[in-house]
Amino acid sequence: MIENTRLPEHIAIIMDGNGRWAKTRGLQRIRGHIEGIKSVREITQECARKHIKQLTLYAFSYENWKRPKTEVNFLMKLLKRYLIRERKEIQENNIRLTTIGRVSELPKSVQKELAIGIEESKHNTGMILCLALNYGGRTEIIDAAKRLAEDTKNANVDLDKIDEDTFRQYLYMPEMSDPDLLIRTGGEMRISNFLLWEVSYSELYVTPVCWPDFRKEQLEEALKEYAQRERRFGGIKG
Ligand code: FPP
Repeated sequence: MIENTRLPEHIAIIMDGNGRWAKTRGLQRIRGHIEGIKSVREITQECARKHIKQLTLYAFSYENWKRPKTEVNFLMKLLKRYLIRERKEIQENNIRLTTIGRVSELPKSVQKELAIGIEESKHNTGMILCLALNYGGRTEIIDAAKRLAEDTKNANVDLDKIDEDTFRQYLYMPEMSDPDLLIRTGGEMRISNFLLWEVSYSELYVTPVCWPDFRKEQLEEALKEYAQRERRFGGIKG
């Protein structure tokens, strides 16, 4: 077990490999997503139990709309079902649900369940569970830049005073701390347009394990590795 002082405060996860998990078992891709929900549940519970401050999950990317319509529809159905079924669990674990991404472009029925989950859990004081939905790192930066430009035009912001802190205020979730640890399952060495601004100094952990097989034990491995990393944020060893 990792001692608390070496635990990341914010863990972000690219949950990849659902399709491959299913394919190697001769199953349809959607079965991988169904099994992936079990990992979502287990990892969320485990992170909450460890008092991780925030867990951000890449549940549906801005680019995922390019998938076959049947798969997109299924993912939306699954998401809606998850939001309904997990409500009790979220409350019992004192978790606060939030989202990042262009949520207003999701199906209305998903938006409705999201709104209920967010409202119901808004006073919870434990872990923040942030679902990245219809999320793209570049769209986040574009959305931020547009709003900042608007405020600059209206003289609410002084152009000469814009710095990183100013820009951060325009991101989807300004109050969130940058992820300390970015986990990617499924083995690909890519960021895939996830949290481009926020992961500048995150520790990366890529495992070949596909998301449906990423459970408590695999999380523990990632945390063990993180605990051994030396973070310098561009400086030198202190
Ligand atoms: C990547 O696997 C996974 C996704 C595109 C979506 C992740 C979704 C879930 C785990 C289920 C829904 C989540 C929540 C929070 C309700 P892939 O299909 O790209 O796998 P592949 O790379 O093997 O094809």
